[in-house]
Amino acid sequence: MQKNSLLLEWEYYADKNALVFAEQQALAMAKKHLQYSHSPYSNFKVGAGIQLVNGLFIGGSNQENASYPLCLCAERVALAAAAAVHPNILIQAMAVTVKHPNKIIDKPAMPCGACRQVLCEVEQKQQQAIRIITQGEQGGIYVFKSALAILPMAFDASYL
Ligand code: THU
Repeated sequence: MQKNSLLLEWEYYADKNALVFAEQQALAMAKKHLQYSHSPYSNFKVGAGIQLVNGLFIGGSNQENASYPLCLCAERVALAAAAAVHPNILIQAMAVTVKHPNKIIDKPAMPCGACRQVLCEVEQKQQQAIRIITQGEQGGIYVFKSALAILPMAFDASYL
């Protein structure tokens, strides 16, 4: 028997102004898109902001449905929007933020497992890391160097 381990590294920023400017803009896009969240069931708003390598930014928000399993996460809405409007433009980074209806979330808002899986697929397809920037409604910011960093040992097409 041998024991193995993984090291997870990420950057911590106490203030958004310490981020590189493009990542500040991605986070601002995520925050802007909170207002477009359709979340009458959870009342929990999620915003995502994508930075494309061509300097454009694309936003997305969670879109819920009375048939609950059909709810779409903000991250996947933003990825689909980017693929629809700017196909084949590489994604440099995605920022994610949240707004709870009755409490202040002050810890970074991590993408759910399904969104991590989809982010990993996009990352693998484009052969370039996607930086992941996360913040709650307020508080510190985490930056991960890639999607795979937040889904270590991910399942992918190599198994098929
Ligand atoms: N949600 C996202 O949009 N992204 C995540 O990564 C986690 C969860 C949404 C789905 C649902 O509309 C609400 O947050 C509560 O789960």
